[in-house]
Amino acid sequence: MVIGPFSQVLTLSKLPLRGALSDEQLEIITDAGLVIKDDKIVKVGSFNDLLIRYPTEQVQFLEDSFVAFPGIVDVHTHICWAGSRASDYASRLAGKSYQEIAKAGGGIMNTVRKTRAASQEELIELTVKRAGELLLRGVTTIEVKSGYGLSVEEELRLLEVIQEANQRTTADLIPTCLAAHVVPSEYKDVDTPTINTSSEQLYLKHIAERLLPEVKRRKLSSRVDIFVDEGAFSKMESREYLRKARDLGFDLVIHGDQFSTGAAELANEVKALSIDHLEAADIDEIITLANGTTIPVVLPGASLGLGEPFAPARKLLDAGCSLVIASDWNPGSAPMGNLLMQASVLGAAQRLSMAEIWAALTVRAAVALKLSDRGCLQTGMKADVIAFSTNDFREVLYRQGEMNPKLILKNGIFIKPQ
Ligand code: NIG
Ligand code: FE
Repeated sequence: MVIGPFSQVLTLSKLPLRGALSDEQLEIITDAGLVIKDDKIVKVGSFNDLLIRYPTEQVQFLEDSFVAFPGIVDVHTHICWAGSRASDYASRLAGKSYQEIAKAGGGIMNTVRKTRAASQEELIELTVKRAGELLLRGVTTIEVKSGYGLSVEEELRLLEVIQEANQRTTADLIPTCLAAHVVPSEYKDVDTPTINTSSEQLYLKHIAERLLPEVKRRKLSSRVDIFVDEGAFSKMESREYLRKARDLGFDLVIHGDQFSTGAAELANEVKALSIDHLEAADIDEIITLANGTTIPVVLPGASLGLGEPFAPARKLLDAGCSLVIASDWNPGSAPMGNLLMQASVLGAAQRLSMAEIWAALTVRAAVALKLSDRGCLQTGMKADVIAFSTNDFREVLYRQGEMNPKLILKNGIFIKPQ
């Protein structure tokens, strides 16, 4: 099939994977077409040239102006949950902090209780519904974390839910085991049984021994995440857990530097694929990341949800780091889930170029998930394409998330026809 003509195709190809980018570096093909066979892109080029080169292909003519981009890759979500935390949000607006609310019975454990109480089918439907909302906004690949189960059985159940939801949605769901989200209250309630062992350490030891091998055996996820921060797990506790996960063959990711610093060094040390959050990252953390291979993922939705400062995205890029932007969609810190809106607003606040923002949502994001078959539009890549009804690519971020794609192709199939 030949599709076109597009006013512009932004390929996001041939860009450096680290450091600052200017809009002049974007490859923009005007009056462009795409040749698609099955789920792959065969060719991107001038529409008229493609009509001549592929005379026997079926042609899908576009009547209006469209600008095409690669499908968006959201590398950090927690969309498998039940219940609402509107009450937490109201408390925050009334002046309480995220940690104070958690201590008072709100926070992550509140969602854990509601998620544990929900049936498998309810959770599948909720996850599919949220994935569908993201897909209609142009997100064709969605990382989804467990982390509201917090026991061996419940975490396995959530990873199974994500696996089943993946079968029922058109977007690709990439599962991550976040059993190390916080220590569950059952562990907190018991008296610390042995001297020098915290309930956090006991819990991490338990899931490292009982859960992770089972996740591996059942191929439920190849990624392990941990929340390293005040109120969650210390660097020392996390290091031991991450090493065990690495020895089992998992890729590692870290929730770090959200409220306090120090996780960047750990991320480098264990060669984590990404460190996500970084709202509290200072210049030392930035330099540490610039000297390593761990990809910084910033989550403006969490800053907006908690009323916290944005992560220092500009400084990270200027220091020579990669930069990925993800939604962190979850019921507590990031309840909105509109990634394009969050990325646009972050861009305005942090002075990110449009090239930096689009790279952070596509090609650089795909690298953070180790997916080499997507993130840019070029021969051989997955035909995940989104197109907006405009003739100038700059309009999309300018409208700050108000513009949704009019045309979406996932694996070469129209989800949203023009
Ligand atoms: O990424 N920081 C830790 N975890 C989530 C929040 C989860 C929740 O509050 O339910 C985050 O912000
Ligand atoms: Fe998160």
